[in-house]
Amino acid sequence: MRFPLWIGGLLLSTLAGAVEIVVPDDPVVALFGCDATLHCSFSPDTNFSLDDLSLIWQLTDTKRLVHSFAEGQDQLANQGSSYTNRTALFYDQLPKGNVSLLLRRVQISDEGSFTCFVRVRNYSSAAVTLQVAAFYSTPNLNLEPNKNLKPGDLVTVTCHTFSGYPEAMVLWQDGRGNNVTENITTSQVANEEGLFDVQSTLQVILEPNSTYSCLVKNPLLRQETHASVTITGQHLLFPTVALWVTVGLAICLVVLLVALAYVCQKKIRQSCKEEREKAGIEEQDGEGSKTALQPLKNMENKEDIGEEID
Ligand SMILES: *[C@@H]1O[C@H](CO)[C@@H](O)[C@H](O)[C@H]1NC(C)=O
Ligand SMILES: *[C@@H]1O[C@H](CO)[C@@H](O)[C@H](O)[C@H]1NC(C)=O
Ligand SMILES: *[C@@H]1O[C@H](CO)[C@@H](O)[C@H](O)[C@H]1NC(C)=O
Ligand SMILES: *[C@@H]1O[C@H](CO)[C@@H](O)[C@H](O)[C@H]1NC(C)=O
Ligand SMILES: *[C@@H]1O[C@H](CO)[C@@H](O)[C@H](O)[C@H]1NC(C)=O
Repeated sequence: MRFPLWIGGLLLSTLAGAVEIVVPDDPVVALFGCDATLHCSFSPDTNFSLDDLSLIWQLTDTKRLVHSFAEGQDQLANQGSSYTNRTALFYDQLPKGNVSLLLRRVQISDEGSFTCFVRVRNYSSAAVTLQVAAFYSTPNLNLEPNKNLKPGDLVTVTCHTFSGYPEAMVLWQDGRGNNVTENITTSQVANEEGLFDVQSTLQVILEPNSTYSCLVKNPLLRQETHASVTITGQHLLFPTVALWVTVGLAICLVVLLVALAYVCQKKIRQSCKEEREKAGIEEQDGEGSKTALQPLKNMENKEDIGEEID
């Protein structure tokens, strides 16, 4: 009879006369694209020889062969094609009963349970779980629309983050650090490598001086990354103020021009009248003499003022 015993986080698979296999209880977390070590070991007898060892690493579910070692060497003829050139043992550790597996360039599809089968005199086995993880990129924020924003506008803030694993937790916060939970849509799409591209959109009615932060968490890696956008009151108010100032100035200008035109017209009519009345006299005096006199008068006035100051 075979009963797995759980002792202090180590799974000991026991069988009368068989080796005791030690594997980690907790899943192994490996970064995407990096190497992972799946630990598995047993305590060999003092007369243990490598020739007595048969080792098989296989997927727990599908029994697909990941790596095998027997008769003192690797036996890779039936190895699953996706593991070609990606597996190795720590050969110097084998005589000590350390049959850990090195898995290179971890992929998302590697996630799952691996079974370590060891036979010295009898078979024993235990499983190790591999979890793959990848950091999310610092998010990008986009506003739509992104021009001429003013309070009361409906704005869509989009938060983008790439190539993380497993799925992200996305939170939105306002400037005071309060969670925004309404009007949020989040989608997580796996790319061809199985990593997630995450897009979250927040729809808000803009208030002056508003800040919106997008927080992206990878719970497995305890990663937290964020980006925020602040729309200042100035930015928001400037276009409105500028508009009203422009309209106000334009109105003033029009009023001024109308008044000026009116005054001018009146003056012109008046002078026309006067001129028509004086026409007889002025023709005799001549215009030349009239204009020549005026600058002289002005010069006299200037001299007077200068003397007063001295
Ligand atoms: C190794 O020694 C043990 C006793 O310590 C014995 O039962 C076993 O048969 C030996 N194995 C080999 C392969 O000689
Ligand atoms: C594995 O490595 C060998 C030698 O380096 C190479 O010829 C072969 O193409 C590699 N196979 C894969 C699937 O990468
Ligand atoms: C087995 O070998 C690996 C790689 O050198 C090492 O990290 C691990 O601690 C070893 N395990 C034991 C039980 O000695
Ligand atoms: C926001 O929500 C997250 C998860 O839902 C929670 O852990 C956190 O405490 C909340 N923060 C505030 C300020 O409410
Ligand atoms: C969510 O959207 C609705 C209508 O689209 C709007 O009335 C409401 O104010 C929005 N909520 C927030 C927090 O912006």
